[in-house]
Order: sequence, then C-alpha cells, then structure tokens
Amino acid sequence: MNFTKNILITGGAGFIGSHLVRLMVNKYPDYRIINFDVLTYAGNLENLRDIQDASNYVFVKGDICTVDDIESVFKEYHIDHIIHLAAESHVDRSIENPNIFVETNVIGTVNLLNSCIKNWKAPFNDNIFYHVSTDEVYGSLGDTGLFTEETSYDPKSPYSASKAASDHFVRAFANTYKLPIKISNCSNNYGPNQFPEKLIPLCINNIKNNKPLPIYGKGLNIRDWLYVVDHAEAIDCIFHEGILNSTYNIGGLNEWTNISLVKELCRVMDHELNRETGSSEKLITYVEDRKGHDMRYAIDANKITTELNWTPDETFETGIQSTVKWYLNNESWLNGVVSGSYQDYYQKMYQ
Ligand code: NAD
Ligand code: TYD
Repeated sequence: MNFTKNILITGGAGFIGSHLVRLMVNKYPDYRIINFDVLTYAGNLENLRDIQDASNYVFVKGDICTVDDIESVFKEYHIDHIIHLAAESHVDRSIENPNIFVETNVIGTVNLLNSCIKNWKAPFNDNIFYHVSTDEVYGSLGDTGLFTEETSYDPKSPYSASKAASDHFVRAFANTYKLPIKISNCSNNYGPNQFPEKLIPLCINNIKNNKPLPIYGKGLNIRDWLYVVDHAEAIDCIFHEGILNSTYNIGGLNEWTNISLVKELCRVMDHELNRETGSSEKLITYVEDRKGHDMRYAIDANKITTELNWTPDETFETGIQSTVKWYLNNESWLNGVVSGSYQDYYQKMYQ
C-alpha cells in the first residue's frame, strides 16, 4: 500500500506515546505509523497489544541517542514527519541522575533534528518535526497566574531544564535551517498505562495493596491534570491544524493540590473496592519534600481553544473514575510493570 504519510512517533511505547500511536493508527489508515522506541523501563509494548498487527503500524526498537538507529529508520521507512515524545520523564529520577536526561532529552532530540536536515530536502514542504514538551519548562507559579505561550522559560529541575534545552534546539533548527516545526507544552497527564512511579498510578497501586501513600512536604503543591486521551487528541489537532513554527499550551483547567487529589483518589478507590469510606485516607503519609519542588503549574489553554477549537472531552470526575477502574481491571498489566516481567513481552513478540 502507498501511504500518504510516514510518521515516526518516538517514545510510542510509553504512556502518552502509546495513546497517540493508537489514535493515529486507528484514525488514519492511510498513514504509516512507525513507533520508534528503545524500550527503557518506561516503554511497554503491551500498551499497544490491541493494534500491534494493524497493517499501517510498525514497531522499530531504536535509540534516539544512536545516530545509526535514526538514520536506518529514516531510510527504511521514508520518514517524512516526526512526532517526538521519547524522553526521560520523571522529575525524581532527574534529581538522582541528571546526565541521562541530558543524553536522552537534549542530545537525542538534536540527533533527530540533524537527521531531519540531512534526509529531508529544503524547503521541506512535506515535512514537520513536532516536538512534545511540558509546561514544566516555564518554572513554578505562585498563587495566581497561568503559563501562556509567551511566559519566559525558567526551568527548575534537571528534567525541566533538559526539556527546555530541547525546545530551544527545536526552535533554533527552525530559525537556522528553516525546518518546519511545531511544539506543544502540556500539563500533567493521567490515565491508563502510566508507569506507577508518577503520583496517580503510584497511589492507586498503593491503596490497592494497603501501602503508605507518600505525600511530599505538606501536599500543597498544585498541578493541572489532563486526561491522556485528551492530550493525544490535542497533539493530533496541532499536528494537522496548528500553524507551522508555533507553540501551543495544552492544559486541563483542572488544578488540584496534591493532598486534595490523593484524598479524592482514596474516596473513589474506597467506593470501587467496597471499603469503608475514609479507610484509604489513613494510608496518607507525609514524607520529606522533593528537592526544589515546583509549587504550582497551571496552563492558559486559550490559544489552542480559540485557534484550533480544542477542548478536553473528559471531566476530572469521569477521567479519574475510568482511570481507577482501568488499573483495577488490568491487574496483570500493573503487576507486570511492578515486577518488571513486562520486559519479557518484547522478547516473546519480536525476537
Ligand atoms: P514515559 O516515560 O511514559 O515514556 C517515554 C518513552 O520514551 C518510553 O517508551 C521510553 O522507552 C522511550 N524512550 C526513552 N528514551 C529513549 C531513547 N533514547 N530512544 C528511544 N526511546 C526512548 O513518558 P510520557 O509520560 O509518556 O511522556 C512522553 C513525552 O511527553 C515526554 O517527552 C514528556 O516530556 C512529555 N510530557 C509528559 C507529561 C506527563 O504528564 N507525563 C506532560 C507533558 C509532557
Ligand atoms: P509527578 O507525578 O512525579 O509529576 P511532576 O513532578 O512532573 O508534576 O508528581 C506530581 C506531584 O505529586 C508533584 O508535586 C510531586 C508529588 N508527589 C508526591 O507528593 N508523592 C509521590 O510519591 C510522587 C511520585 C509525587
């Protein structure tokens, strides 16, 4: 079959990437979706079991830090578009080991950009490099205000510094080589298939197993939560309709302090598990604060809403309920991830 586009999605076996790959494979049968992922601890091909045999889907195990891997996927699949999600994504890990964040998030992104310049021909009429980034590049808000696309960068963790650096390189390639780019900066995502090191799946797993729920500091830090499928739909919308060389902020208009969010999760879990109301809350345990913990993130999503007519479909009430139900109904996924046995899946399926 002749595909109308050959889209390389990096990090497609991860949390957000797998939702985006599924959406694109199902919605656009005339596009070939090439999922390029090295399968770190965060990459899990079981996330894509339902579409793994689709005729417009290919998985390639490859590393954005290895130029030869990138060059061979470009050549083999005639890549003409990239949606770049591959990254180290967990702030706590970046505090323990910043270097891997520089290697993957900065050097890996520059490797991809170099390959675009090398393999695509100026004026790049049929090409787009779409970079998926985070609102954390803007730093930390006080009690008021929202991040807009004009907010100055002020990253404060090794993770956000590495994402900010990658955003700068993407814009520098647009300016210097006229590479057509798009960037989006999104708030915190939640939903099925998120690795249980992040707050929401970690708490769901711990409530289920009656383990302590570690709340950093006083639990008063604020995050703006968006359902992952809404993020994938926003990326689809920006990829197709967004203005070239521009940036879009994506957010849920849904701010929660960590402690109220965890209490809400406890309430939903008590209900789902038929536990006495209030029993899960007893697991809440205040622990030492994260080093340099950003106080508040909140997105002004006015640009994407007015320009592209995107708004989230999922309310937090329905999103959190379906997320909890998903983790409870997919025990084998959760247990596999916690035990590490999910890493056998690649061996079984692809080797
Ligand atoms: P994730 O950690 O769940 O997945 C990352 C994926 O990238 C994994 O499949 C991993 O195997 C792959 N990967 C890592 N290093 C690689 C390499 N060197 N080569 C190829 N693949 C590699 O991350 P996520 O939460 O799905 O985030 C995806 C992207 O979205 C990241 O760029 C992140 O910065 C951004 N983002 C995440 C959030 C969020 O709340 N999770 C919010 C905004 C933006
Ligand atoms: P996280 O899910 O790691 O996302 P991010 O740091 O990118 O926002 O954390 C969300 C919030 O929850 C953040 O303020 C840190 C806090 N947190 C805890 O209080 N306890 C935990 O065990 C974790 C993982 C996070």
